[in-house]
Parts: sequence; C-alpha cells; structure tokens
Amino acid sequence: MELNIKLIQETFELVKPRAEEFANRFYANLFQDYPAAQELFRSSNQEKQKRLLVASLVQVVHNLENPEFLGEYLGRMGERHVAYGTADEHFEWVGHSLLKTLQEMLGTEWNQTVHQQWAMAYDVVAALMQEGLTRAKSKVVPLRKAEPKNLKKVS
Ligand code: HEM
Repeated sequence: MELNIKLIQETFELVKPRAEEFANRFYANLFQDYPAAQELFRSSNQEKQKRLLVASLVQVVHNLENPEFLGEYLGRMGERHVAYGTADEHFEWVGHSLLKTLQEMLGTEWNQTVHQQWAMAYDVVAALMQEGLTRAKSKVVPLRKAEPKNLKKVS
C-alpha cells in the first residue's frame, strides 16, 4: 500500500487546533502504557517538551512530500536522541502511544485505513530517526584504558 499523504495531512489538521490536548494525552498514554518511559523524561521540562513534540510533528507532516528535508531533519533529531537515552526498542512505545492518541482524538474519523496510513508514516519517521541514532552511537569513541606496557618508567 502506498502512503496517502493527503489523508495523513487532512486528519492531522483535525487534531492541530487541539495541539495542547494532543500532547497531554500523548504523554499520559506513553507513561501509563510504558511506565519505564518516565525514567527517560525525568529531567525534562514537560511543558517545553510538549511544545517541541507538537512542533516537530507539524514539521514532519507538512514535509511528507519532501524526502530530502525529512532525511536531514529526522536524521539529526535521531542523533540528538542518543543523549536522551533513547534506544531502538523505545520507538515501538512512542509509535503505539501516537496511534492511540490519534485514535482517541479523531473519534469517528478514525478507521482502519487511517490507522494503516499513520502506522506506515510513523514507520518511515522512526526508521529515519533510528538511522541518525545508529550513526551517532557509532561515533562515540570508547575511552581506552592506558596500557601499562606502553608506559615508560621514569627513573
Ligand atoms: C518519531 C519519533 C520521535 C520524535 C518525532 C521525537 C521528537 C522529539 C523532540 C522534537 C524533542 C525535543 C528535543 C530535540 O529536538 O532534540 C525530543 C526530546 C526527547 N525525546 Fe523524542 N522523539 C521521538 C522518539 C522518541 C523516543 C522513541 C523516545 C524514547 C522513549 C524519546 C525520548 C525523548 C527524550 C527523553 C527527550 C528529551 C526530553 C528532555 O530532556 O527535555 N523520543 N523528542
């Protein structure tokens, strides 16, 4: 099945006027269904984080037709997520919570097709972020212990 960008953008427009409620519900769902996620957000400024989440969703949904932008934007966002303690398996938590929140908010506008389309779009987004995450992790140089055999004794 092909990604129906128009359908994703149209359903997102229905949610946008209630962005604050969306962000509140999203984090409530995430922390209720995956309590371990709370640990990752412990030091986070929740209100700021909610605004940033909505802003990033707006960017992504508005640029679904622009793969170059998405690759760049989400790749860099993935790189930053290393510092937040994000691992590959956490993307399932966020994906599930996102779909659940959209379903709650869209009510009767939600159906099988809308579900499939958002799931597909999220998979693309998550894969691009994970690429950045993997790239950033491979750049981390482990600290090497000094090797005693290379140390000269100063007498
Ligand atoms: C497609 C998926 C995701 C998107 C679009 C997204 C978006 C964002 C954005 C926009 C920020 C604000 C900071 C920044 O831009 O660097 C952020 C921070 C953060 N994200 Fe994500 N994120 C995603 C996936 C995840 C996952 C899977 C986790 C782990 C459960 C996670 C955990 C965090 C944490 C812990 C922060 C830092 C909060 C803070 O310290 O203030 N994110 N995310």
